[in-house]
Amino acid sequence: MVFTSLYSLCGAGFALLQLLAPVTARPVARSTSSSTLLALQFANVLEQLESTFYAQALQKFNQSDFTAAGFASAQIPLQQFQAIFKDESTHTTTLQSAINSLGGKTVSNCTFNVASLLTDVPTMVAAARLVENVGVSAYLGALTLINDTVLSTAAATIMTVEARHQTILNVLAGATAIPQAFDVALNPSEILALTGGLISGCNLGIPANVPLRVNNSGSIQAGTKLTFTSAALNGTIPIEELSCQFLAGGFPVAISQPLSNCSVPANVTGPLLVFVTNSSQPLANNIRDAATSTIVAGPTLIFIDNQQDALAIAARPGLNSTVAPSGTSNPITSSTTITLTPVTSSTTSGPVTSTVMSTLTPATSSRAMSGTVTLTMASTSTPATLSKAASVTSTVTIVPTTVSNDWTAVTKTISPSEASGILASAVPSMSSG
Ligand SMILES: *[C@@H]1O[C@H](CO)[C@@H](O)[C@H](O)[C@H]1NC(C)=O
Ligand SMILES: *[C@@H]1O[C@H](CO)[C@@H](O)[C@H](O)[C@H]1NC(C)=O
Ligand SMILES: *[C@@H]1O[C@H](CO)[C@@H](O)[C@H](O)[C@H]1NC(C)=O
Ligand SMILES: *[C@@H]1O[C@H](CO)[C@@H](O)[C@H](O)[C@H]1NC(C)=O
Ligand SMILES: *[C@@H]1O[C@H](CO)[C@@H](O)[C@H](O)[C@H]1NC(C)=O
Ligand SMILES: *[C@@H]1O[C@H](CO)[C@@H](O)[C@H](O)[C@H]1NC(C)=O
Ligand SMILES: *[C@@H]1O[C@H](CO)[C@@H](O)[C@H](O)[C@H]1NC(C)=O
Ligand SMILES: *[C@@H]1O[C@H](CO)[C@@H](O)[C@H](O)[C@H]1NC(C)=O
Ligand SMILES: *[C@@H]1O[C@H](CO)[C@@H](O)[C@H](O)[C@H]1NC(C)=O
Repeated sequence: MVFTSLYSLCGAGFALLQLLAPVTARPVARSTSSSTLLALQFANVLEQLESTFYAQALQKFNQSDFTAAGFASAQIPLQQFQAIFKDESTHTTTLQSAINSLGGKTVSNCTFNVASLLTDVPTMVAAARLVENVGVSAYLGALTLINDTVLSTAAATIMTVEARHQTILNVLAGATAIPQAFDVALNPSEILALTGGLISGCNLGIPANVPLRVNNSGSIQAGTKLTFTSAALNGTIPIEELSCQFLAGGFPVAISQPLSNCSVPANVTGPLLVFVTNSSQPLANNIRDAATSTIVAGPTLIFIDNQQDALAIAARPGLNSTVAPSGTSNPITSSTTITLTPVTSSTTSGPVTSTVMSTLTPATSSRAMSGTVTLTMASTSTPATLSKAASVTSTVTIVPTTVSNDWTAVTKTISPSEASGILASAVPSMSSG
């Protein structure tokens, strides 16, 4: 296990806000693990992505653009987007200060290619919804990497706000505010399969799963047969040996089906992750125990919008008239996808059209992330798609192939049964307090 022993620390840890406090005196003594630092750096890059996205969205669209997209009033989305942008900007700078305080450096030279998500307001809203859903899953997954309960709690204080954004975006997208009782945790490689196409020019030191894209361009509902595009679906593994797996909040395990007959499960509303695996064994919905080595591509993220809340209708009564009806083509065809592969690995998977190398070097320690730092980011031009159809929206992706786990210095995660035990014991103390 690699970790950075930087400083000694008096007493308890710090919350991010304490880390944010101006460096009045000497740098604070602090010890942290490399995986903690990596988790914060990763979260910071995602916050940079979000901030860039919202800044450009607010700059590009005016009030008429929002009303033309079917909102009852332009102020309904604008107030929310402004609030969300402010949050993301604050998160970015707070995380940056925290990283610096821990002796690390933020990854500051990424380029965020969000223009394709900003073609029009419906596309932008659908993309924002997707980004916020991914953000929540990213923070959930990153928690397992943080080897410090104070910092993990601090990260969770950000995560709950991301979940608020997610809910608002579900409404602004004209769908269901709170579609599921649980969110799904995804590991950083999975998050990069979903978002990597928007990020280039920097090295996060994290291998990305091979991106997966849903071919279907029309409405996606229960029973819809899905087909996919992915660099990993190239005939090397016969299709008969591949499965598609669906995961939604609250599923104990994924629903596994033959890839050749992959139909959207019944009774899912809201976000649905899809993986392609080389085993029909269902993936566990458990960030520690999921058999990620079977993942060939993905996940991608689709939304099954088969319910529309009254709140969403009130916010966006004109949605049906302004959004392409289901069954027509997918308006959001975005972006490139990237694959991160370790330089030190003998295998390079996926097409590589450009390679950018950089190194995350924590300022104060040469030991941090040793052995895992030097990675290439290979970016390919696989389009990802999001559909903004009124009744169903759609796609993004993930799957770890080049799983190099040196950086995942996961010390302990809890199983669902352990989690319910904690919840059960917490409830009485909460109600008594
Ligand atoms: C708003 O922006 C659109 C282009 O996105 C432009 O056609 C329109 O004239 C603008 N409206 C106002 C009131 O500025
Ligand atoms: C982080 O992990 C290392 C190695 O397991 C451990 O020695 C250290 O005490 C941990 N730090 C915190 C703050 O839990
Ligand atoms: C999915 O789309 C890709 C590229 O657009 C195409 O090559 C492939 O044949 C499609 N797959 C199916 C099963 O339709
Ligand atoms: C495809 O799967 C459905 C159930 O999801 C099943 O009813 C059908 O028989 C399958 N078709 C083939 C060709 O396997
Ligand atoms: C879906 O929900 C309906 C109504 O609650 C139920 O009758 C049906 O069995 C469910 N289907 C599945 C596959 O769970
Ligand atoms: C596929 O399956 C084998 C063993 O079942 C496993 O070792 C391999 O890493 C798997 N993953 C991929 C992405 O092919
Ligand atoms: C949109 O259309 C669907 C089906 O045509 C309908 O059920 C729904 O109420 C409509 N939504 C709005 C906001 O008009
Ligand atoms: C083809 O797919 C296999 C696994 O599905 C993968 O290991 C290989 O890298 C892929 N080839 C290319 C050129 O992407
Ligand atoms: C990004 O920053 C890293 C570290 O500062 C550097 O090594 C790398 O060359 C930079 N990449 C680009 C494309 O500027």
